[in-house]
Order: sequence, then structure tokens, then C-alpha cells
Amino acid sequence: MLICRDLPSLRAATAALRADGKRLALVPTMGALHDGHLALVGAGRQATDAVATSIFVNPLQFSPNEDLSRYPRDEEGDLAKLRGAGCDLVWMPPVEAMYPPGSATVIEVAGPSAGWEGDARPGHFRGVATVCCKLFLQSEAQIAVFGEKDWQQLQVVTRMAADLDIPIRILPVATVREGDGLAMSSRNRFLSPQDRATAPVLLRVMTRAATAIAEGGVVATALEEGLETLRVHGFAPDYLALVEAETLKPLAARRPEGPMRLVAAARLGAVRLLDNIAVG
Ligand code: PAF
Repeated sequence: MLICRDLPSLRAATAALRADGKRLALVPTMGALHDGHLALVGAGRQATDAVATSIFVNPLQFSPNEDLSRYPRDEEGDLAKLRGAGCDLVWMPPVEAMYPPGSATVIEVAGPSAGWEGDARPGHFRGVATVCCKLFLQSEAQIAVFGEKDWQQLQVVTRMAADLDIPIRILPVATVREGDGLAMSSRNRFLSPQDRATAPVLLRVMTRAATAIAEGGVVATALEEGLETLRVHGFAPDYLALVEAETLKPLAARRPEGPMRLVAAARLGAVRLLDNIAVG
């Protein structure tokens, strides 16, 4: 497994793959890898000839009130996991390589960035879109693999790549869950044992609301009941909402045409849990 820490070596490595006629899949990550990330590497391997994983804790997507230095980092562990998963190349740029002094360009995606995480984390999607655009152009990958766990991020990045005519296909991969249903996330390690035991309630509540909506129940009632159940279990919910799957626009009523998604964010102790499921 090749490890590149500067752009010229990444460019040389990807040029060699292209010269061999190999197609490349990119898995963008911020490290602290878990089985969810490794599933993305696996999907990349199935879809192409070679997989590159980027590990970069992107300062641009953290708001001033979020603690960038507290984001979990485990370079040695991550590299061992990637080796085991059959990753071919790791792109680990230092911050100065990604944002050299004088950098002045950011990517602002309207539409799916609005609301939900866009409201809770102002500037977050600007940071995500900017770094993903750079990663796509740096790697020249044919496919970029993203988990459905961060549904809004997936829609923002898909929109950005389409709008900027970047020749890359975004490949979504279903959320990987623990045995009790909790969506895997690098931040789960900060849950106290008691909160970890409570955390799967989020998916149970979402599944109940999604079923009620799919069966014709009143959307507002299903969502209000879900929010109340979360509060009773000690969550501080930010939102539980029915949205159009691609645009993230809120839906007040079930719509027969086009995919719908239930999206949720709720704080539990020290951790803000994020999840989403399809409806109907
Ligand atoms: O989902 C993440 O880990 C990050 O938002 C991403 C896509 C790697 C961009 O920094």
C-alpha cells in the first residue's frame, strides 16, 4: 500500500495507475476508521481496479465552536485497517498541502446544503464541498465512494460534482450499523456506557415514524411522537424530519412520487448522533 503525503507523489501514483489502464475509486475520510469506512473501501474495490483512501481532518468544515483538536486521530491503526481491507493508496496531505498560504477559493453549494446540518453547523458544507472538490481533482478518480450515513453530505457532494462537471461518479453505500442498530461513526467512542446503551433508541424511533408515515399516518403526529420519545429517553433532538431525498426539502405530507427520507440529529450526552432512513 502506497502512502502519499504530498501532491506530486499522489499525481505520480495515480498517473502510473492510469498508464496501467486501471480505474481508481476514492474513499474520502477523516480517519479514525471503523467498519463503515472499510465497507466503502470494499465497495470501491468491487467497482474499480484500485482504491485510494484519503485521510484528512479538514479544518474548513469545523465551525469555531467545534473542537477540531478533539477529533479522534489514529494514523497507525488506520493504516493497518486499510492494509487489511486491500486499499492500494493512501492520500494523507498535511493541512499546508491542502490549503497553502494564500488559498482563497471555496465552493458554496446551495440547494441541498440548506437546513438541517447546514443550520446546525454553519459553513460545514462549504468546507465539505471545497475539500471534496479538491480531493476529486487531485486524485482524478473515476468513482468517489460515500456512506449514506451522512445523507445530506452525500447529496451536497453529488450536486457539486454534477454542477461543476467533474468527471467522477458518486457511489453511495448503505449505512453500516452495529448489531443493535446504532449507525457506525467515529464519534460513537465518546458515548458513555449508559448513553451507548440508549443510543439505538434513535433508529427504533425513526423506524416507527417511517412506518407510520408509509402506512398513511399524519406526518406531523408521527414526527412529534418520535421527538417526544427521544426526549423521554434523554436525547436532546435537533430535528426529526421527513424530506425529499435529493433536495432535503421538508415535506409536510407523504408524497406518492419520488423518494423520501427521514433525517434526524439528536444530542446524547457528549455526542451528536446523526441518522437517516428511507421512507416507503
Ligand atoms: O464524511 C467525512 O468524513 C468528511 O466530511 C469528508 C467527506 C471526508 C470530507 O472531509
